Amino acid sequence: MSSPASQIRLLLVEDVPQVAQYVRGLLDAQQSIKLVDVVADGGRVASQVQQLRPDVVIVDWLLQGRTKARRVVELVREVGPGIPLVVLTVPQSPVEPNAAAGIAGVLAMPFSGFELVNVINAAHQKASSVETAGRSSVVAVYAPKGGVGRTTLAFNLAVALASQGRKTCLVDACFQFGDLRSLLKVPADAPSILDLPTDRIGEADLADVLWRDPSRIDILLAPSRVELAEMISARDVEKVLSLLRRVYEAVVIDLPATLGDVTLAILDAADTILEIVTYDSTTLRNTQAVSDAFRAIGYAAAKLRYVLMRADSAGGIKAEDLARVLGRAPEHSIVSDGPLVVQANNEGVPFVLANPDAQVSRDVVAVAAAILKAPALAAVRR
Ligand SMILES: Nc1ncnc2c1ncn2[C@@H]1O[C@H](COP(=O)(O)OP(=O)(O)OP(=O)(O)O)[C@@H](O)[C@H]1O
Ligand SMILES: [Mg+2]
Repeated sequence: MSSPASQIRLLLVEDVPQVAQYVRGLLDAQQSIKLVDVVADGGRVASQVQQLRPDVVIVDWLLQGRTKARRVVELVREVGPGIPLVVLTVPQSPVEPNAAAGIAGVLAMPFSGFELVNVINAAHQKASSVETAGRSSVVAVYAPKGGVGRTTLAFNLAVALASQGRKTCLVDACFQFGDLRSLLKVPADAPSILDLPTDRIGEADLADVLWRDPSRIDILLAPSRVELAEMISARDVEKVLSLLRRVYEAVVIDLPATLGDVTLAILDAADTILEIVTYDSTTLRNTQAVSDAFRAIGYAAAKLRYVLMRADSAGGIKAEDLARVLGRAPEHSIVSDGPLVVQANNEGVPFVLANPDAQVSRDVVAVAAAILKAPALAAVRR
């Protein structure tokens, strides 16, 4: 039977069989934590962490053998950054919790089942909240109308963020007609999100399926065939995003226009929604309808940032009319530059690198700069 997704997976590094047995007995009495393995040899910890992907690791501070506890702590931090460690010790060898050294909690023997569960839960919770707040920024590029420049903005924005030194992943969430496959001219057999395992996904699985673009971003592609899109569920996407948050400083997502379950799950998970608007009456009508929907869902106003695409092509619509529909002036504007944008897209290169001095490139870099100022990403560099 598979374990519930909310269960905390624990790896115990313990060479004293009686202690391992004691911990096992305490955990048998409850459901929230699952002991995935007991490793007695510190030298095997790295491979077990990579293979089992625990949520929390407990290490006996008095571990014997060639690989001592301090080294185990370092190894876990190397192969599983973000996995919290709890140190098990005796009162005669006190250890202080030390976040900088990777020690999220300490358990001194003898301890009760209650103490054991509490320290694991606290370590896990702290790590998860760091994971979802303050370590990376998830930006969803959305528009309730096709052909307005979502893929173009998502690609160039991701490259602009990577050029600022942020480890960036671009996700093609247009699962039916993944535009990035054709834009980047990837081979038909290049793996997609569907090649990830459906249960627990680890960094190694991700590394196997990501497409690495010369512009220094990693890309999670959409499936290569239209009918495969329906195999992707909202839950799958949530799991992938939660891992991407852990691995990348910035995650940019190219979304389709339709608001289905999967798109809504991504919008929910995003820190920022960049919604593209244009001077076009159909786009504006749809934008109004969507902003009503977003209000009903309860998205904070600050989560949504409007990007006026082709800002210099008003087509008879006044800036005041646009502001009335949006309830405010758009936060960002990107000019129209057909010759550069179309050629760059046709060649599969980002215009922000091909011609960084062009106004359209500067405009996208300004959007990237605003994202970098948002609390989550600003915190990464502090
Ligand atoms: N700022 C711009 N100036 C000029 N042309 C642009 C600009 N942004 C996008 N385009 C062009 O607009 C067209 C649509 O862009 P894109 O494919 O990025 O839109 P989309 O919203 O992803 O469309 P789809 O609904 O097909 O997914 C492309 O031909 C692109 O080159
Ligand atoms: Mg597109």
